[in-house]
Amino acid sequence: MSLVLGIETSCDETAAAVVDDRRAILADVVRDQLDAHRDYGGVVPEIAARAHLEVVDRAVAQAMDDAGIGFDALDGVAATGGPGLIGGVIVGVMTGKAIAAAHDLPFFAVNHLEAHVLTPRLTDEVAFPYLALLVSGGHCQFVAVEGVGRHRLLGTTADDAAGEAFDKVGKMLGLGYPGGPAVEHAAKGGDAERFTLPRPLRGREGCDFSFSGLKTAVRHAVERLPPGPLAAKDVADLCAAFQEAVADVMADRTANAIALFRAGCPDGETLVAAGGVAANEALRGRVETVAADRGLSFVAPPPRLCTDNAAMVAWTGVERLALGLSDGLDFAPRPRWPLEDLAAR
Ligand code: KG4
Ligand code: ZN
Repeated sequence: MSLVLGIETSCDETAAAVVDDRRAILADVVRDQLDAHRDYGGVVPEIAARAHLEVVDRAVAQAMDDAGIGFDALDGVAATGGPGLIGGVIVGVMTGKAIAAAHDLPFFAVNHLEAHVLTPRLTDEVAFPYLALLVSGGHCQFVAVEGVGRHRLLGTTADDAAGEAFDKVGKMLGLGYPGGPAVEHAAKGGDAERFTLPRPLRGREGCDFSFSGLKTAVRHAVERLPPGPLAAKDVADLCAAFQEAVADVMADRTANAIALFRAGCPDGETLVAAGGVAANEALRGRVETVAADRGLSFVAPPPRLCTDNAAMVAWTGVERLALGLSDGLDFAPRPRWPLEDLAAR
């Protein structure tokens, strides 16, 4: 059996986890920094880096404690090497390298996007190749996942990522940061028909996204309301209309993405959703229906493993350990690191 420690510090969660090659998560520690960033309405990179530095050692110690093992029991150490906020990535990579060097273990510099798209193999044993809808705060892509380190980008966003749009709409409506969960919650009591919002790129060829026009339309709808604080009903109706528009676009784009995926991978059988926005029940439901109509099974990790965590980083380490794909201790953290670049290393 092999055991890998994973460390995630690329955004505003400091996380450490221990996962084995039988898909058991022995420890899964996530410390968010929401309190540190709340006053700013978003993640402040400098504050994030300092916060990671303050708690990363304790997060790792806690994970080792929860797993009930010492460092000598590990077979490898994985840390997110990018893409992400560079100060935080440096903290995680340095920590991972130090543990690997001190205990003579292989080190894995994990691509954060790959960690998200490989998570359904940890939770559900999904076989390659599969189609992944990766929707998070920083990314919004369809990826043909053909193997570890083998990803083909089928579509991406021209402007905002889906999670970014949720966060901006949440901020506009006074729902605080992060907006995604709050918008989903508020939308539950809302009337999606009261406000008419656009469906950017619906009906167009390909499977790209664009969310900035939708976000602007929400702003205009807010501006047309009577001045003064928004009523709870206005907020709920706007959230419902926005979420419905995102769901409509996602369903349309998913149908095209499945056709593109099938052209390149005729034996693929699964659509997976990953990344923080995949925690959204309404969106999951819509995308699942599109997949089912086209004969694909649908897998999305439990919400806790959709948002940033270190179990997905440790799991990517497990996958790479099995293939003998470790990294040197000279690995340089990468603020930008597109998935397609992984094949080159
Ligand atoms: O994957 P993640 O934790 O971090 C990135 O890699 O970006 O994703 C965070 C994003 C945020 O934009 C957050 O608002 C969004 O995922 N999110 C949601 C939900 N939960 C988190 N968006 C919509 N509905 C949700 N329930
Ligand atoms: Zn993420």
